[in-house]
Amino acid sequence: MAEVLHIAQGSKEEKYRELVSQIKAVIGDESDLIANMANIASMLHETFGFWWTGFYRVLAQNQDNILVLGPFQGPMACTRIRWGRGVCGTAWKKQQTVIVPDVEEFPGHIACSSLSKSEIVVPVFQGDRVIAVLDIDSEHLNTFDETDQKYLEEIASIVEASASTTRES
Ligand code: SME
Repeated sequence: MAEVLHIAQGSKEEKYRELVSQIKAVIGDESDLIANMANIASMLHETFGFWWTGFYRVLAQNQDNILVLGPFQGPMACTRIRWGRGVCGTAWKKQQTVIVPDVEEFPGHIACSSLSKSEIVVPVFQGDRVIAVLDIDSEHLNTFDETDQKYLEEIASIVEASASTTRES
């Protein structure tokens, strides 16, 4: 695998395209889900310099499921999030991407950092089950749009493929 990230010059779309092809190259060689999440968080962070970029994984706890902090880049964050809580728990519950242009306007938003202004959360599936969410925070309002959604969902599907590989290996 290439160990130096190449960041495309140009539009957000060009940066995502270059990033996705490099993520595929890195993940193609590795079946460990945590390692893949760690590299994806790093590669997104290096490419876009978002305030906080990382994963929360769905873990079984007693008879319940909960999101637990996974690999990330950025300031320390809250460790556990319940189903339906905050933006992350909402994306998990709805099983779909949630874009929040202004976190102040999102009832129940969990403020891990007062500097976070907008957010996108993308579920990661294994089959029809959500196994994690990819959460990105920006210190600017209105950072995320349908371009971010399209490519981050593609990245989530690459994680899904690596999760399936992990299960089988
Ligand atoms: N803001 C998220 C919590 C996680 S942090 O942003 C890293 C939420 O409302 O679910």
